[in-house]
Amino acid sequence: MTSPNNPHFLRLGVNIDHVATIRNARGGDYPDPVRAAHLAAAAGANGITAHLREDRRHITDTDILRLCDEIDLPLNLEMAATNEMLDIALRHKPHAACIVPEKREERTTEGGLDVLGKLPKLKYFVNKLSDVGVRVSLFVEPDEAVLDASKELGAPVVELHTGSYCDAPEGAARDAEFARIVRAAKHAEEIGLECHAGHGLTFDSVKPVAAIKTIKELNIGHFLVGEAIFVGFEASIKEMRRLMDEARGEAGS
Ligand code: PXP
Repeated sequence: MTSPNNPHFLRLGVNIDHVATIRNARGGDYPDPVRAAHLAAAAGANGITAHLREDRRHITDTDILRLCDEIDLPLNLEMAATNEMLDIALRHKPHAACIVPEKREERTTEGGLDVLGKLPKLKYFVNKLSDVGVRVSLFVEPDEAVLDASKELGAPVVELHTGSYCDAPEGAARDAEFARIVRAAKHAEEIGLECHAGHGLTFDSVKPVAAIKTIKELNIGHFLVGEAIFVGFEASIKEMRRLMDEARGEAGS
C-alpha cells in the first residue's frame, strides 16, 4: 500500500503556501518555500502544490520559477481562471494546474468553482492548458452535477473541496458532509474522472477521506505548516503520510 506503484496508493501533495505567508510577514526571504519543498520531498511528499494568487499574498512569481527549476517533484499550480494566470501557466508548463475560484477579500479559497455557471470560460482555460500538456484539475464542491459538467469540459481531474466536511461539527453535520464526499468520489470514478481532495485536512480529519479508495491524491498545506512549528516540517509530513497509509490499509486493498 505504501508503494506509489500500487494502484491504490494515495498521493500526498504538500502545499507550501503558508511557508511563504510567514516569510512575507517580514518581507524578506526567510523562511524559503523552496527549501520547504525540498524538505517535503525528503519526507515523502509525492508532489508540491502552490497557489499563485492574484494579490501575491503568499507565493510569488519568483517562487514558481524556482519551484519549476529546482524541485524534481511534480508541481501542481493552483490558479484562478484569469488571463494573467493562464499566461504564467503556459510559460512554466507545470505538471498540473488546479483551477480554483478566487476572491480578493477571502482569507482562503471558499467553496468550489462555479462550473455550471461558467462553462464556456472554463472550457477555454481547460483547452489552453491541456493543449500544452498541463494536466488540469477543477476544484469543485462534492456534487454530482458539477462533476458531470467538469467531465463535459474535458478536465481529466477534479479536486473535491473538503472544507465543509472539515469545518462541520462532529456528529450528524459532519457525517452528512462526509457522505457527500463519498458519493462524489464514487461518481467521479464512474464517469472516468480522477478524483483528488483537499482543504482544511488535519491529523484528525484525514483518515476517513484517505480511506476512500477512489480518491487518488490529497493536497494538504495549512495544517502541515502549522504543525511544523511544534514538531518540524518533515515530522509533520511523515505523520500525515502514516495516517493516510493506515487509513488506506484499514480500507483493505
Ligand atoms: N486544495 C486546494 C485547491 C486549495 O486551494 C487549498 C488551499 O490553498 C488546498 C488544497 C490546501 O488546503 P489547506 O491549506 O487547508 O490544507
